[in-house]
Amino acid sequence: MPKQIGFAVVGLGMGRHHCKAIQAAPGARLVAICDLDEERLRPSAAEYGCRAYATLGELLADAEVEVVNIATPSGTHAALGSRCAAAGKHLIVEKPADITPRRIDELLAAVRRHGVKAAGIFQSRLDPLNIRIRQAIQQGRLGVLIGVHGHLPWYRAQSYYEGRHGCWKGTWAMDGGGSLMNQGVHTVDLLQWLAGPVASAMGAFGVFGHRIEAEDQSAGLLRFANGALGTLYTTTCCYPGFNQRLTLYGTKGTIIKEEGSLHSWKLQDDPECREEQELLALYGAGRKASGAADPMAVSFDGHTQIVLDMIGAIAEDREPLITLKSAKHAVEIINAIYLSGRTGREVKLGGPAGRPKAKAKPAAPKIAAKTSPRKKARPATKAKEPAARKAKRR
Ligand SMILES: NC(=O)c1ccc[n+]([C@@H]2O[C@H](COP(=O)([O-])OP(=O)(O)OC[C@H]3O[C@@H](n4cnc5c(N)ncnc54)[C@H](O)[C@@H]3O)[C@@H](O)[C@H]2O)c1
Repeated sequence: MPKQIGFAVVGLGMGRHHCKAIQAAPGARLVAICDLDEERLRPSAAEYGCRAYATLGELLADAEVEVVNIATPSGTHAALGSRCAAAGKHLIVEKPADITPRRIDELLAAVRRHGVKAAGIFQSRLDPLNIRIRQAIQQGRLGVLIGVHGHLPWYRAQSYYEGRHGCWKGTWAMDGGGSLMNQGVHTVDLLQWLAGPVASAMGAFGVFGHRIEAEDQSAGLLRFANGALGTLYTTTCCYPGFNQRLTLYGTKGTIIKEEGSLHSWKLQDDPECREEQELLALYGAGRKASGAADPMAVSFDGHTQIVLDMIGAIAEDREPLITLKSAKHAVEIINAIYLSGRTGREVKLGGPAGRPKAKAKPAAPKIAAKTSPRKKARPATKAKEPAARKAKRR
């Protein structure tokens, strides 16, 4: 029997999906799990039949652990990942890779220094429908791409942001934002993976329907490097939660997706819509469970593919399909929208180490940074930001 690769999971919220994904992947063995919360650790160890560690240090001393899946709060990923890399463990890091491009660069440096493999989790990139859409764009079948739009009208109750495992969500320090960074990062990554890099961004955001620090509604305007314009909308306020919608307009056609399903495939080179019918039969309505109302409703199939790909990457000594480096641009775009919301300026991407830079002059047309007529809503320009980031901008 070929050697099995030993995996471990740190963080047992979404991490339980990772445990199932590892157990479903031929060639992978779930060796151990780790969580600071005993009430999550012990029952999960019993359920998955693996070793349980209360600290990352103990887990890293386990020689049978070769790959560590990191599913802790987003603002801890780079620090924990760097420790794993230093211990010679390969990494699979939940989205976002961390909450700032600088921290992701630090993690990438640790990965390079210690010669380990590192994959990000953007499971949507492995979806056959998304791959088909990307191929159509790259083959020029939409003509010149002109409009790239992502809409995420999701819902999370106030309780989602409360309690021991909720209180880090919607904070700047640990979540790096709210609906845009936490829920929206998949949509942002998909837009840039389909349409190419974003050159600049404008945005507005605020708190509208929850008692949280960062934001629960954001709107962004994107200029893609290829000239296309894009819009992005994220929220966790839209009761009861509606499907993510992606729209891609080109000079020769339009593709519309709703959550995991195809809605329209209207291309001039498919005038009788034969291809559209074929694709609707494969990927039409109701194809996938949605995270619109419940984060745990998403399937773990994508995670299993990422685990299998990591096994392949180790065996073949190649990069994983979703490199950590490629997972950075979504975080750059999101931070650019936040910076624009604070400054009221268009923010250029692609500065030193990919850090966003506010343009010297306000761009025209300028998006108003006002957030809501409601009294409670905090204007984006006054939204709190981490002290460290404030200091950096001075
Ligand atoms: N890919 C997806 O579709 C998807 C979906 C949901 C969440 N996520 C991501 O998964 C990550 C976790 O989110 P969640 O909703 O599961 O959060 P959560 O708070 O429910 O779970 C995180 C767990 O990590 C543990 N933890 C924190 N610090 C630790 C440390 N130093 N060592 C060991 N354990 C530690 C906590 O005790 C907690 O049990 C986030 O980065 C989030 O963005 C991804």
